[in-house]
Amino acid sequence: MPKSENVTVTGRERTFDPDEIIVSKTDLDGKIIYGNRCFYRLADLAEKDCMNVQHNIVRHPDMPRAVFDLLWRTIKGGSEIFAYVMNRSANGDHYWVFAHVTPSRDSSGNVVGYHSNRRVPNREVLNSHIIPLYKQLSTIEQQHTSPKEGLAASTKVIDDLLAEKKTGFNEFMFSLGV
Ligand SMILES: Cc1cc2nc3c(=O)[nH]c(=O)nc-3n(C[C@H](O)[C@H](O)[C@H](O)COP(=O)(O)O)c2cc1C
Repeated sequence: MPKSENVTVTGRERTFDPDEIIVSKTDLDGKIIYGNRCFYRLADLAEKDCMNVQHNIVRHPDMPRAVFDLLWRTIKGGSEIFAYVMNRSANGDHYWVFAHVTPSRDSSGNVVGYHSNRRVPNREVLNSHIIPLYKQLSTIEQQHTSPKEGLAASTKVIDDLLAEKKTGFNEFMFSLGV
């Protein structure tokens, strides 16, 4: 069970401005090594609370595990991913973002960590596509007593959706009209 399932949520949404970008960087294990001021403001956390702490410190319990599983498979494979994510502020509020997560490379091309830029999501896409899809995935994950089977079942929903649309995950995200 993810740590964040034991946390409180207020149901209140936080927003940020369209000209703002939420930035964070992690080491290879996903521990935060940098956040910009916008990141800390939305997360309702201080820099000292986050340094060298796992990025799931902002995980919202309603986010399906399949999205993060895909995120990690993608970036560990050396590729970038674009995804809608709902994060949790420390006081239990939530904020939706459209995130780009990608490996960071040194001058020789070695992956030395990961970084993410997030901007304000398209509200229409959230309401019409993402919130219903994520709800479906989370429900499937909760229906299984085995977390492994739950993850496999929700991942299959994503895979089937992409196969039906003959597209990749990033292309699918952009096709929704970000
Ligand atoms: C650069 C980077 C940025 C990330 N940003 C977020 C984020 O904004 N919110 C989030 O919940 N997880 C983010 N993650 C994924 C987390 O590492 C983690 O997989 C996720 O919170 C799920 O946590 P869990 O595996 O403990 O359930 C990010 C990972 C990386 C490498």
